[in-house]
Amino acid sequence: MKIIVCDNHHEASKYVAEIFIKQVQNKPNSVLGLATGSTPIEMYYYLIKDHKLNNTSYRDVITINLDEYVKLEASNSQSYHYFMEKHLFSGIDINKSNTFIPDGTGDINANIKAYNDLLENINIDIQLLGIGRNCHIGFNEPDDEFQIGTHLVNLKQSTIDDNARLFFDGDYSLVPKQAITVGVKAIMSAKQIILLATGKQKAQAISNFLNSQINPQFPASILHAHNNVVLVLDKGAASLIGKDSYDYTE
Ligand code: GLP
Repeated sequence: MKIIVCDNHHEASKYVAEIFIKQVQNKPNSVLGLATGSTPIEMYYYLIKDHKLNNTSYRDVITINLDEYVKLEASNSQSYHYFMEKHLFSGIDINKSNTFIPDGTGDINANIKAYNDLLENINIDIQLLGIGRNCHIGFNEPDDEFQIGTHLVNLKQSTIDDNARLFFDGDYSLVPKQAITVGVKAIMSAKQIILLATGKQKAQAISNFLNSQINPQFPASILHAHNNVVLVLDKGAASLIGKDSYDYTE
């Protein structure tokens, strides 16, 4: 695993944006696996800025998102559908019919099957990940075993707490307790994986999964089994890892 440590969140966001911009410039019909959360917002801003300045085109790009809350309509300002529209899709020339996000409304089982069918027929070129404080990726929460396919998940209390703190105006009653997320198969099938994590609050999660064997209690530890993972951190998120054990660039 390659680890890049940037000075701060801005530099880390720019670094990851550059990787995605090059990917799209080199392969205009790339399939991008995308993530939500507060971490990638600035990285998406840099994609939009580059699109406006340099005309990097997303016309032929396909995007596959990791997850969505259950029971939030796309029009709900806290849904991941809304998030993607606001922070990325509205600022680039992507064809909306090429953007895919699990549907958390209506018939959940049918939606899960539809997403799995979609993933069976698509190869993700590059997958963006964030990480939860409990090492979740997408919404693959700590569990006794890894979930392979897209599935319904009961969110852990720490995840609900984080979501209430950062989003939903701190109102717990509004924070969904369930989500649909892709499983580890879709993530691990991506040709390349970029995990972006910044801030001291992520340092323990980074250290936990890097120092762990592959263990479903630390879901991000599955990334040890992938041969093309780049971890892009800032100094805060990297503050608990040893520089000696990894391919580490500062
Ligand atoms: C949510 C998302 C994850 C994301 C995580 C971290 O749980 N489902 O994909 O990595 O939040 O969020 P943040 O970037 O706000 O710390």
